[in-house]
Amino acid sequence: MSDLSLPFDTRYLPVKKFHHEYRRSIEQPEEFWAEQARQLDWFRPWDKVLEWDPPFAHWFAGGLLNASHICVDRHIKHWRRSKVAIYWEGEPGDTKVLSYSTLYNEVNRFAAMLRNRGIGKGDRVALYLPMLPELPIIMLACARIGAPHTVIFSGFSAQALADRVNDVGAKLLVTADGGYRRGKTIPLKTVVDEALTMCPTVESTIVVRRANIPVSMKPSRDFWLDDLLEQEAPYIAPEPVESNHPLYILYTSGTTGKPKGIVHSTGGYMVHNYCTYKWAFDIREESVYWCSADVGWVTGHSSIVYAPLAHGAAIVLYEGAPDYPNVDRWWHIIDKYGVTIFYTSPTAIRMFMGYGEKWLAKHDLSSLELLGSVGEPINPEAWVWFYRHVGGERCPIVDTWWQTETGGIMISPAPGIECVPLKPGSATLPLPGVDADVVDESGNPVPPETRGLLVIKKPWPGMLLGIHGNPERYQQAYWSRFPGIYYTGDYAVKDRDGYFWMLGRADEVLKIAGHRIGTAELEDAAISHAEVAEAAVVGKSDPVKGESIVIFVRIKEGSSPTQDLKQAIIKHMRQVVGPIATPDAVYFVTRLPKTRSGKIVRRVLKAVAENTPIGDVSTLEDEAVVEEIIKIYQELKQVQEVK
Ligand code: WT7
Repeated sequence: MSDLSLPFDTRYLPVKKFHHEYRRSIEQPEEFWAEQARQLDWFRPWDKVLEWDPPFAHWFAGGLLNASHICVDRHIKHWRRSKVAIYWEGEPGDTKVLSYSTLYNEVNRFAAMLRNRGIGKGDRVALYLPMLPELPIIMLACARIGAPHTVIFSGFSAQALADRVNDVGAKLLVTADGGYRRGKTIPLKTVVDEALTMCPTVESTIVVRRANIPVSMKPSRDFWLDDLLEQEAPYIAPEPVESNHPLYILYTSGTTGKPKGIVHSTGGYMVHNYCTYKWAFDIREESVYWCSADVGWVTGHSSIVYAPLAHGAAIVLYEGAPDYPNVDRWWHIIDKYGVTIFYTSPTAIRMFMGYGEKWLAKHDLSSLELLGSVGEPINPEAWVWFYRHVGGERCPIVDTWWQTETGGIMISPAPGIECVPLKPGSATLPLPGVDADVVDESGNPVPPETRGLLVIKKPWPGMLLGIHGNPERYQQAYWSRFPGIYYTGDYAVKDRDGYFWMLGRADEVLKIAGHRIGTAELEDAAISHAEVAEAAVVGKSDPVKGESIVIFVRIKEGSSPTQDLKQAIIKHMRQVVGPIATPDAVYFVTRLPKTRSGKIVRRVLKAVAENTPIGDVSTLEDEAVVEEIIKIYQELKQVQEVK
C-alpha cells in the first residue's frame, strides 16, 4: 500500500514464533491468558479466567491483587530498589530522579495522606495536575488503597473539569497552584476554584506547590500537600482488591455531548498491559522508556505509569511543551537520559519533520532501540522520517493501534515476541489474544483491500468494565451494532498479507493532534454562546494535526455575522471545553444540510470543508441547502480564515 521502500527487504524475515503464539492465543484464549497472568503477583489466585456475560467481561474473577504492589513493592524486594524509576524534567529545566525505593516511600506517604483525608476503598479521587512526579505517585497511592482515580487533562476548562468530577462523584480533588507551559504559568488552582462552585461531592482539595503563584485557599476545604505529608514514610499495606475492582475511570469523547467515563479493571488491565508492553516494546527493567503523551490520556495511564513501572523500567516524565525553549528539546531529553524506547504521536513527528533534521543532528540519539507511534494513523512519509532521522535506521517502529476503551495495545508489531516485517503506515497484525477483523455494515468480513469497520470479536483482558453509571450506553455504543462483537468506531482495511491499515474514525468523533473530541461536545459548546442558534462541526484534514475543527454556525436573528463574533465564538468554545476545542475555521450559514429526521448530514459539510465532491445527496430533505452551503463556502474561501 505504500511505495516508500525500506532499506531492508522485509519479506524473508522468519515470523514462525509470532504466528505460533497468535494461533495458540486464539485457539485456547483462557489457557493463554492464565499463563500470562501468572507472571504478575496475586495475593489470591483467580477462580475463573473469564466470566463472559456479553457485553460484560470479568477477567480473573475472584483473584486478589493490587496495582501499586505490582508497580512498586515488587521491585523493593529486588535489586531494582536502587535503580531509577522516574527521571522527571520540568519545563524550566529543573529535574528530579526517583529510585524505586524513593517511589515506594512516596507512594506510601501519599497513601497515608489520602487515608487521613478520609479516602477509602471505592471512593473516587479526581486529579487535575501538570506532568509532575506527584501525578504517578498519587495514581499509585490511590491504587494502593483501592480508590479509583480519575485523571482530568489539565488543559480542560473549569466547566469540562466540573462535568467530569460530578459524573464520577469525586470526594477529593488533587491539583497544583499552577504549571508551566511555554515559559508561562497556567493558573490551575484558579480553574479548580471556578469548577468547584459546581461540584457538590468534593469535600477537600489538595494543592501541590509547583509554580509558586498566589492562589486562594478556602479554609477547611483546601490544603497544601506539604502540610499533609508526614515526614517519615509510614507503611500502608496495599489493599488486596478483587480483579474487577475499578482501578480508574477515564473520560473520553463519544458521539453525544456527554463524555463517557471509561471504567478499567485492576487484574485484566494489568495483565493486558504487562504483556503487551513486553510484546510491542520489548520493555525490560534496563529500559529507559519515554512516552511523550500527557498522563491525562489513556496513553499516559498505561504507557507512562502502569505498564513500564510494572516492568521495573525507568520512565521519563517531561512537564512542558515539546519545542520549548528550542525545537530540539525532545532530542536533548533523549540524549540526556539515554532513552532506549521512545513512544510518540504522528502529529508530533510531522511537527518535527517541519522543523528539519538539523535539530536532531546536534544530539546523540544512539541510545534508542525502538520507536513507537500512537493516537492516529501515521502517514508513510512521517513513518519513514521517524525511522531514518530519529531511529537512525536501526530501530523498529511499532505503530500501536488501541483506544481508551481497550485499555492496552491491540494491533501492533510485536518485536518482543518476533518482529513481523514492517510496512510504513500499517499497524501490522493483531497482538496475541486479540481477535480483530474488518467487516461491512452487516457484520460480514470484507475481502482484502476493501474498506470496512474495525471490530474485535472476542473479549480481551484490558477491555473496559463499562461506562461509569451508564450500562445502557456501554451496550449501545459498543455492542449494539454487531451483537456480541465490539465495535471500535474506526475504519480499516486489511491488505493481502492480513496487515491492518487504519483509516480514521467512522463515527462523529474527531482526532485533533491525536486527541479525541466529539463533534457533539463542540457543537454544544458553540450553541451555549448567546448569539449562536445552531452549529455543526466537521473535521478537515490537516497536514500536521491530522484533523482540524471546522464549524458551521447559524446565528440568532438580530445578530450580525462579523469577524468579531467569529472570534468571540472561538474564545467561548475554548472557555467551555479548553484549548483543544479551538476551531481553525468558522463559517456563518443560514441553513444546515439535514436529513428528513433532522440529523445534520456531516458528509456534506465535510465535503464543503475539504472542497471535494459531495456524492449522493438523495437522502437530503432539500438539495437546495447543499447548493446554498457550497455557495456560501465559495464566498467564504475568498475571505481570510479566522484563526
Ligand atoms: C482512537 C482512540 C490509545 C491511545 C491514544 C488514543 C485512533 C489510536 C492509532 C493508530 C491509527 C489510531 C483510532 C482510535 N488511533 N491509535 N496506531 N493508528 N489510529 O486513544 O483517545 O481513545 O482514541 O485513536 O481512531 O479509535 P483514544
